[in-house]
Amino acid sequence: MGIMEKLQLRGYATIVTGGAVGLGRAMAAALAEMGSDLVIADLNRGNADKAAAELREQYGVRAHVVEADVSKPEDAERVCAETLREFGKIDVLLNNAGIVKNAKAEEMAYQDWLDVINVNLNGVFLMSQQVGRQMIRQGKGSIINISSMSGIIVNTPQNQVAYNVSKAGVISLTKTLAAEWAPHGVRVNTIAPGYMKTELTDKFFREGGALIERWMSMTPMGRPGVPDELQGIAVYLASEASSFTTGAVFSIDGGYTAW
Ligand SMILES: NC(=O)c1ccc[n+]([C@@H]2O[C@H](COP(=O)([O-])OP(=O)(O)OC[C@H]3O[C@@H](n4cnc5c(N)ncnc54)[C@H](O)[C@@H]3O)[C@@H](O)[C@H]2O)c1
Repeated sequence: MGIMEKLQLRGYATIVTGGAVGLGRAMAAALAEMGSDLVIADLNRGNADKAAAELREQYGVRAHVVEADVSKPEDAERVCAETLREFGKIDVLLNNAGIVKNAKAEEMAYQDWLDVINVNLNGVFLMSQQVGRQMIRQGKGSIINISSMSGIIVNTPQNQVAYNVSKAGVISLTKTLAAEWAPHGVRVNTIAPGYMKTELTDKFFREGGALIERWMSMTPMGRPGVPDELQGIAVYLASEASSFTTGAVFSIDGGYTAW
């Protein structure tokens, strides 16, 4: 099989959590462009419906929405069950849903800590466990977790202890599941993005200011990434092109973690 064929995702069924907007939406579009059908599992039904309609229209794939909170075990189970009802299998799980709360460690409310860990780390575990069981039955599957450079370094000057810890946890979870599930044909990898300019943060980056200048001065490429710049790695990891890749951390950060 040539590389062009290996990168194709025709007939695939992919779940994208938090795929309604932002980085998840961009990666969902790339997987759809390569032919994959989609389930968008998101808290925000309205945005998810809009994204699904656009992806169906633009790429001619099937796109189904499940309104869900990935941090709830019963929701993770329902996302998995609805995907199986719709498509009969799950080829790819893209664990992208995530939140951030900024606070100094000594001041952070425990509930805020829990909220971040529940979505960013526990949500990835719950979804991976549900979908992993199915992939083990299939003898095949690819799980892609979105961690962050914040799981590798400590951002500055903003304080985000729970976020950093959650993303470091996602990196360890990725390696652990990769090791446990390699004998079952299930691959697990993580993408660790740096500062990315999404619809939500675009204004912020355009206005600039001391914080943005600080971040960009610490980034060898001197600019934020844009969501499209995660598309190549998402397609690679979803597809047969990455058949020997598991337990790996892919930094997509303009060089931030190199300095
Ligand atoms: N934007 C960045 O600079 C950046 C950098 C590194 C990593 N990341 C990570 O990439 C991922 C996506 O980031 P983004 O900037 O596109 O975020 P975003 O806030 O633009 O979008 C997140 C999406 O996830 C959904 N969501 C939130 N909590 C959920 C839950 N409990 N269950 C289901 N859906 C939920 C939201 O409704 C939204 O649609 C996150 O994991 C984030 O931590 C982002």
